[in-house]
Amino acid sequence: MTPTPESPFQYKSDELHCEGVPLAKIAAEVGTPVYVYSRSELERAYKSFDAALEGMPHKVCYAVKANSTLGVLAVLAKLGAGADIVSYGELFRWQKAGGDPGKVVFSGVGKTESEMKAALAAGIHAFNVESEEELYVLDQVAQSMKLRARVSLRVNPDVDAGTHPYISTGLKTNKFGITMEECRELARRASKLPGLEIIGVDCHIGSQLIKTAPFADAIARLVALITDLRSDGVHLTHIDIGGGLGIDYGKGDVVPSPAEYGAAVRDALAPLAALGVTLVTEPGRVLVGAAGALVTTVLFRKRNEAKHFTIVDAAMNDLMRPALYGSFHPMKPVAQPGRPDIVTDVVGPICETGDFFARDRNLPELAQGELLWIGAAGAYGAAMASNYNTRPRVPEVLVSGSTYTVIKPRETYEQLIAGERLA
Ligand code: LLP
Repeated sequence: MTPTPESPFQYKSDELHCEGVPLAKIAAEVGTPVYVYSRSELERAYKSFDAALEGMPHKVCYAVKANSTLGVLAVLAKLGAGADIVSYGELFRWQKAGGDPGKVVFSGVGKTESEMKAALAAGIHAFNVESEEELYVLDQVAQSMKLRARVSLRVNPDVDAGTHPYISTGLKTNKFGITMEECRELARRASKLPGLEIIGVDCHIGSQLIKTAPFADAIARLVALITDLRSDGVHLTHIDIGGGLGIDYGKGDVVPSPAEYGAAVRDALAPLAALGVTLVTEPGRVLVGAAGALVTTVLFRKRNEAKHFTIVDAAMNDLMRPALYGSFHPMKPVAQPGRPDIVTDVVGPICETGDFFARDRNLPELAQGELLWIGAAGAYGAAMASNYNTRPRVPEVLVSGSTYTVIKPRETYEQLIAGERLA
């Protein structure tokens, strides 16, 4: 078992820091709530994932949806990452951050014609096509532009990822991909369409997977499909296995390291070794999750007959994961960790019972005005934030060594209503 790498968030003299910067300093200068990311952890995570696939021809296409802030994208683009996008908006951001459109794969069950056109014009690497109808529309769009779209067919391998039902995507009952049965016939037909070049197959079976077996099962199915298609005369050069590798949320789960994941992938891909097939991966959470935290201030405490509540200035609109999936995020006081615990619900100011970050959590008792660190929030935190309750989206800060940059300022009230008008 590979030891978990040390978090970039560590106490130094009882003060929680991100790399060399005290979180209290960021909170004082930028305000709370605030997302704080560690540049060195983003870099470490990318390099360790990439190194885990060493020896196999491969591309790491970061799933932009996990965190699409330009300052974060730019760190990954600079390391040579490609991108997995699900909308034109994500391609727009990727290019604004200096990302190479030639390293982009475009996933998603519902691409519009205008999105297809824009992606073709930008010269993306491949479209992950998820239905027969999408295939024919893409063929027409490409022909109208006198181009050929490179296509990877997303199959639904019907394997159970063993994760939360909302983020499990590789089962027959999910909306994603083309069935295994249909795919062989469709690939043969599609290889004759003039606007398309069928280069590969792909799948994405779910997110926050904490076992390698479902990945291996899904890959085995894709390998069989590629082999069958060879005998039909269709030679594919690209196998995309999606993202999905989980991270440690401090709940006691044992999560495979990238190296363990890489070993499982290597074994499962062995039958293709001699065929010159490039592996494409679409990791999101594992590249950015541990690098980020949400720092929030305790506004009030109160107790009723049943419970103790710690009310903080962040809310479900800033970090939706607990409300939406019941997810667990680690929490620590920013100062003086060594205090007796109490059992408390950590909740936000929004008028919904679902607006909580933790329920019945053992935490050192926090005083009014104290700072609380909510960890493992770099993935699907800021990216899923909304303006619900007319709350401006919070600032984002990138720490590098002993300095930090505000990569996204707090939204202003004027920005919140920009473009709106009275009838
Ligand atoms: N590729 C495709 C086609 C995807 O749909 C996803 C995530 C990924 C790659 C990246 O998966 P990752 O490596 O991050 O697990 N909001 C949820 C997660 C939704 C994941 C959606 N698809 C959460 O907060 O847990």
